[in-house]
Amino acid sequence: MRLSLMTWPEVEAHLRQSTAVIVPIGSTEQHGPTGLIGTDALCAEAVANGVGEACGAVVTPVLSIGMAVHHLGFPGTLTLRPSTLMAVLRDVVDALAGHGFRRMLFVNGHGGNVSTLRAAFMEIHAARAQAQLAELRLDTLNWWQGRRVRELCHSLYGDKEGMHATASELALTWALFPERADRRVLDPQVAPTHRFQGPDDFRRNHPDGRMGSDPSLATAEDGQRLLDLAVADVADALRRFSEA
Ligand code: NI
Repeated sequence: MRLSLMTWPEVEAHLRQSTAVIVPIGSTEQHGPTGLIGTDALCAEAVANGVGEACGAVVTPVLSIGMAVHHLGFPGTLTLRPSTLMAVLRDVVDALAGHGFRRMLFVNGHGGNVSTLRAAFMEIHAARAQAQLAELRLDTLNWWQGRRVRELCHSLYGDKEGMHATASELALTWALFPERADRRVLDPQVAPTHRFQGPDDFRRNHPDGRMGSDPSLATAEDGQRLLDLAVADVADALRRFSEA
């Protein structure tokens, strides 16, 4: 159930049955010459909404701007600094907790958000403990980290999946927006992978924005399979999270 499409009495009634909520979080950042800037937010939102439908869980609107400082060298990228994102997360969690939600699973679409999410969770736990408020269960899961998705990615793309602007995430967005599919082969076909510091260094070492990937392998059809498997993986994780 999408929170955006519920009324407040429906939320109040739902809270008598379950105090779990899913919060999709993504990023608005370059995804190479053929990938959409909204890829991470679109993927997280689609997977989270699928899980919400499958499990009858409430899903908040996607937090679509994440921590993408290192992608700022490419036009269109937006970012929150880690400290800003932590403040946003704390306010969103506080609002949900104020209504009675106690278990919040962040379905994440961007690896660059993970350390900030974890730090924010600890800040929230510390503040609530000090104020003697009810302890919350907070966790985050990348949509691509479940067993089913990892197995299909490995069989479809092997090492060419890469680290950024990956074949799997572009495929998933092309399942959602087939008219935006762009399967041209890039040069080099498989992008380089380096460590990086800030945006200048990232762009110098990854000139077209990709890291280690060959997104020409992606298809909308495989994207739909990945979406279905991601929903199944995250739904399993939500059930474990809700029972723990
Ligand atoms: Ni991405």
